[in-house]
Amino acid sequence: MKILTVIPTYNEIDALPTTIDRLRAALPESDVLIVDDSSPDGTGELAEEMAAADEQIHVIHRIKKDGLGGAYIAGFTWGLRRDYEAFVELDADGSHQPEQLPDLIDKLDEADLVIGSRWVPGGAVVNWPVQREVISRAGSFYSRTMLGLNVRDITAGFRVFRRSTLEDIDLKSIKSAGYGFQVDMTFRVARQGKTIKEVPITFVERTMGESKMSSGIVLEAVANVTKWGLGARASALSKKLTGR
Ligand code: GDD
Ligand code: MN
Repeated sequence: MKILTVIPTYNEIDALPTTIDRLRAALPESDVLIVDDSSPDGTGELAEEMAAADEQIHVIHRIKKDGLGGAYIAGFTWGLRRDYEAFVELDADGSHQPEQLPDLIDKLDEADLVIGSRWVPGGAVVNWPVQREVISRAGSFYSRTMLGLNVRDITAGFRVFRRSTLEDIDLKSIKSAGYGFQVDMTFRVARQGKTIKEVPITFVERTMGESKMSSGIVLEAVANVTKWGLGARASALSKKLTGR
């Protein structure tokens, strides 16, 4: 299977080399695409050096910091123009263990989307402050209830998509910028009746650089989930009332 691992970066100059080394060792068959948003710390230039030294590494540069969601859409679009059959999402900061990727990829035999999950039995978080865990669990719970999804870790950013799963999504129509992007993608895949499987992972909080999480990103996600959830309920109700 031809695999592309997409890694969005913004100011990850310290963490990126280790992440790439571990990824190349754990899954040597995967090509790598770094999507950098003109990081002021020089991550983009470092990525270019890595790409020059390894023909399986590629880089795209966006002109400004424009969100995790947009970075993934740019990366997927790049990959869909080529012949990749599976697409991996991986954070640059060391939170996702590349050594766990083969487990996720194995599961793709039975699923259209595989999610590396912190909140299923066997999943774990290491060094996460209590408030982050509470926000993440509550966010997953709210999204799951509101959207009627049977997924425990809805905002998870460690994932594998089949090519067909991405082809069936209108990527251009996605506006979610932050963690809401992950919820948005999960909801779209589920609504198409596709199969989503969760595989337990250990998420390790970064030791280098800073999180790009902000209250704005959380609010965007909550607002969208509420809107989508109410929208889905309204259309189910109108179907019931009108029979159409
Ligand atoms: N290109 C680009 N542009 N990359 C970005 C941007 C952006 O605007 N914002 C964040 N990133 C990159 C970071 O450099 C990192 O590689 C990855 O996206 C994740 O960003 P973090 O800031 O480390 O996210 P986190 O640790 O707070 O969030 C993690 O948990 C979230 C909630 O479960 C990630 O796994 C998210 O994907 C997940 O939704
Ligand atoms: Mn992180």
